[in-house]
Amino acid sequence: MLTKDSVIGVVGSGAMGSGIGQVAATAGHQVFVYDNNEVSLSKAETSLKTSLQKLVEKQKLTAEQSDSIFSNIHFVKTLSLLSTSDLIIEAIVENIDVKKKLFHELEKTAKAGTILASNTSSLSITSIAAACEHPENVIGIHFFNPATIMPLVEIIPGIATSPEITNSCKSLIDTWKKTTVIVKDTPGFIVNRVARPFYSEALRIYEEGIAEKATIDWAMKEIGGFKMGPFELMDLIGHDVNYIVTETVWKQFYFDPKFKPALAQKRLLEAGFLGKKTGRGFYNYSTDSKPEEANKNPELGNLIFKRILVMLINEAADTLYLKVASRDDIDMAMTKGVNYPKGLLKWCDEMGVDNVIKELNALRDFYEEDRYRISPLLKQNFILRKKFY
Ligand SMILES: NC(=O)c1ccc[n+]([C@@H]2O[C@H](COP(=O)([O-])OP(=O)(O)OC[C@H]3O[C@@H](n4cnc5c(N)ncnc54)[C@H](O)[C@@H]3O)[C@@H](O)[C@H]2O)c1
Repeated sequence: MLTKDSVIGVVGSGAMGSGIGQVAATAGHQVFVYDNNEVSLSKAETSLKTSLQKLVEKQKLTAEQSDSIFSNIHFVKTLSLLSTSDLIIEAIVENIDVKKKLFHELEKTAKAGTILASNTSSLSITSIAAACEHPENVIGIHFFNPATIMPLVEIIPGIATSPEITNSCKSLIDTWKKTTVIVKDTPGFIVNRVARPFYSEALRIYEEGIAEKATIDWAMKEIGGFKMGPFELMDLIGHDVNYIVTETVWKQFYFDPKFKPALAQKRLLEAGFLGKKTGRGFYNYSTDSKPEEANKNPELGNLIFKRILVMLINEAADTLYLKVASRDDIDMAMTKGVNYPKGLLKWCDEMGVDNVIKELNALRDFYEEDRYRISPLLKQNFILRKKFY
């Protein structure tokens, strides 16, 4: 049973591992962070100092609180120093073979009964757990970036995970001031599955020349109320991360055309135009480049927004239909994990399932592609005149 006195281990001190370590230390745990790259480890230590300093400047923490959080975290250069941990959260490279190898090693290093968790975005928890002698102790605990700010955490039991461990992890992370949702071990879990059409339908509209990137971004922000447009967001996430998640989800769903990646994004990855971090992605971030102009035609904007929205609603409905998570958790995950303005199932009720189906039918009839097939749950709601809420 995990408690506020449990010792937390973190493997990987990159973007996610360092954030998760900070969250656990802020909740008062002793935290041991290990990385096999010493440069990454010392960078994480420096950036933790800076981040805490900023919180003190903004008066979100007192100097004493900041010192106490900093003293709770120990950056260590050997994996064996994680052996006192009650829960170890892995946040290393998104590669199934590397993760399996690490879990096998972790189980040998950790004390008996230690819970081993993966922060993977899209890999199978069941498959990672299979590398261990005690898969019942292995679980997915998926934070969102930045882990210190985003409230959502997806808790993913693999098929062998013990229910006690699932409950214990959920209760602990709830005390870290996070919002937890329980998700079935399926590709992309909730958020990285339901959000796929936000990118892929935008890419499709762009590839077909229906609208330019800036126009699509404008429509989703101005008309849809999203904080960022799909192209801006992909550039921010980085195409190395965003494209790989899309490709992994598509492959794991046996190449379901709904999840097919777009060549326009693959080419960026091949070129090394990874987005904001490399100065170029869909947009050019050099200071002398002229911002692209949106075509603010309301009719075009509405067409773009509706097309992307109904594809998002369709995926949210299918996620519920296939019992990946509950209605409330699916809606909460999208608002708390990726800042969507509304839960998609709620949005469906507001728009009317008949209107959603009409839009999807038009797409399916025109393209004659399986990508546009309608979720059986939407059809059921339509036939039975039911709402999600
Ligand atoms: N970046 C995101 O937006 C995001 C969001 C949620 C989940 N995730 C997931 O979190 C994990 C980490 O992602 P990230 O963005 O922090 O990556 P990152 O590249 O920033 O950091 C990974 C760290 O792991 C270390 N590492 C690699 N192999 C290792 C090993 N065998 N042993 C110890 N350390 C090792 C690297 O040196 C590096 O410091 C991935 O599984 C990713 O899918 C990422």
